[in-house]
Amino acid sequence: MSAPRPLVAGNWKMNGLKAALVELAAIRDAVAAGGAGRAETAICPPFTLVAAAADACKGSALAIGAQDCHAKVSGAHTGDVSAQMLHDAGATYVIVGHSERRADHGETDAIVRAKAAAVIKAGLTAIVCVGETKDERLAGQAAAIVGGQIDGSLDPDFPATHLVVAYEPVWAIGTGLTPTAGDVAEIHAVIRQKLLKAYGPKGGAIRILYGGSVKPSNAAELMGVKNVDGALVGGASLKCADFMGIAGVYK
Ligand code: PGA
Repeated sequence: MSAPRPLVAGNWKMNGLKAALVELAAIRDAVAAGGAGRAETAICPPFTLVAAAADACKGSALAIGAQDCHAKVSGAHTGDVSAQMLHDAGATYVIVGHSERRADHGETDAIVRAKAAAVIKAGLTAIVCVGETKDERLAGQAAAIVGGQIDGSLDPDFPATHLVVAYEPVWAIGTGLTPTAGDVAEIHAVIRQKLLKAYGPKGGAIRILYGGSVKPSNAAELMGVKNVDGALVGGASLKCADFMGIAGVYK
């Protein structure tokens, strides 16, 4: 089976006022000019900007996503946002299970799985995040931890077409530290085996992104690793030049 089309997705986290839509438009235009080559691109702004961002990117090659959602469609859940609402706002991707959600909001694998199911049910694609902590890596448990998160966060009944996995070592997020290419290859191979087991040959087409301190200067090496089908980019997705410097490795 040929390798899946890469995806370079930006996670703006809790950054971006309305003025940031100017930067978003710059990314949209750079993608339209061919700057991301064969890669698909997406930006996941905060909830407050999803609708405006989707309007600004309508009909363009830059997709818009969100960073979280509730597992239910609607109801008495003050402050929460459902996947259906995000679909209505024009999003096509939703990140679920980011380590900041797992750590700050106590999200377990079971919660992440329910959120991913809601995303898929709403017709969107779930970007499911997994990754070990520094202590877990130092204890030699990275592969086991990530494997366990995959087992717990994914349902074999999910349609493979609406699933993306992001491997984001917690200790690499926002720190400037990255695993070696060999370590990335090892964990991505573990994830690929799990996906093939759960989804059969279709598991070979599920994109496995690497995330954690991806920058223009290290993108070519990280994106060149076997079973790395793109990137989930935090800090470097806030500026058009940096984001395109990463997506541009697929030109
Ligand atoms: P970073 O964040 O690129 O700023 O390390 C990645 C992420 O958390 O998705």
